[in-house]
Amino acid sequence: MPKITEIEDLKRIYKRRTPKMFYDYCESGSWTEQTFRENSSDFDLIKLRQRVAVNMEGRTTKSQMIGRDVAMPVALAPVGSTGMQHADGEILAAKAAENFGVPFTLSTMSVCSIEDVAENTTAPFWFQLYVMRDEKFVDNLLARAKAAECDALVLTLDLQILGQRHKDIKNGLSVPIKLAPHTILDLMTKWRWGLQMLGTHRRSFRNIVGHAQDVDDISSLHSWTAQQFDPRLNWDTVMEYRRKWDGKMVLKGILDADDAKQALNIGADAIIVSNHGGRQLDGAMSSIKALPSILEAVGDKIEVHLDSGIRSGQDVLKALAMGAHGTYIGRAFVYGLGAMGQKGVEEALRVIHTELDTTMALCGERDVHNLDKHNLLVPRDFYGDWA
Ligand SMILES: Cc1cc2nc3c(=O)[nH]c(=O)nc-3n(C[C@H](O)[C@H](O)[C@H](O)COP(=O)(O)O)c2cc1C
Repeated sequence: MPKITEIEDLKRIYKRRTPKMFYDYCESGSWTEQTFRENSSDFDLIKLRQRVAVNMEGRTTKSQMIGRDVAMPVALAPVGSTGMQHADGEILAAKAAENFGVPFTLSTMSVCSIEDVAENTTAPFWFQLYVMRDEKFVDNLLARAKAAECDALVLTLDLQILGQRHKDIKNGLSVPIKLAPHTILDLMTKWRWGLQMLGTHRRSFRNIVGHAQDVDDISSLHSWTAQQFDPRLNWDTVMEYRRKWDGKMVLKGILDADDAKQALNIGADAIIVSNHGGRQLDGAMSSIKALPSILEAVGDKIEVHLDSGIRSGQDVLKALAMGAHGTYIGRAFVYGLGAMGQKGVEEALRVIHTELDTTMALCGERDVHNLDKHNLLVPRDFYGDWA
């Protein structure tokens, strides 16, 4: 097995082993990709305060996210089509999360279904919902998530319509894959991926096919998904789903203090400060820059989580020290999955955990709960002076 010392190692192997259209699908942002880039580069602007001669024995990264014990406050974010990055990808990622002791979030647009993941894991997972026009289908999804004992619903609010990613259009991205000449040529070099895919029957959106009305095959699936994301989604709809779901609810995709206040009014248990990994509103602020104003607005009344741009344990530490209660990784775990399946996701979590633990120690802290602004050097103009 190759020596993995950083997330970048996994990304390199992932790129080699995964069909280009799925690598590009993951490794892109919308339009100019400014927000995608700044999600990571803004973390670099924050510096860490090195402290010395502090007893570093007996460290812990253990914490809780919405009442759930976690080995570190880093959950796996919902990632659509994970099962195309590696055969049975959602099942493998959920198993890795379970082994590591962190939550796994299953996307509505997953390849493996709610039932597939439930049958192959024992730890409860979180289910991410996209509100679709077909209300009966959505209600049924919620019932299926309940039956599978999902212990939180993550409602994504920043994808009523799709931000454009140029590469997906140019690559002719589709699930399952459509065999154009350039795809066949690419697949010839990705034989391992192909063999693994041939070994599974899970190759389509299994939360949808056979469950939504009139979606029994691939061609009907395409037209159905194209029309289904509901552009009418508003705070009244969110409140309806709050009433329908009697468990923990997390609202994902909050980037503005006013929206954070709305989320609070809805009675959400947590919000995720997120710009969908830079895949939706290009030109929006990075999550780490948006975090302080949101914390100021609601931070003492609701758990504030953060995703977008995290590629290391240092990034996790910075988000926690800035005031986030928990974090999520999207691409960082997909790199691991595409590189080496379940083992790769475990490696991604191990790398991030080691980095978090060691960085915490070198900052003079022994417990993630003690991380605070005092561990950081934040440039005075970091927050910006926006009109
Ligand atoms: C390939 C890909 C697919 C995604 N699919 C979903 C999805 O189905 N539902 C959702 O709420 N977010 C989705 N996201 C956004 C992630 O949940 C998360 O917000 C984002 O990946 C965080 O940024 P990071 O990748 O820089 O960690 C997706 C992200 C990626 C990269």
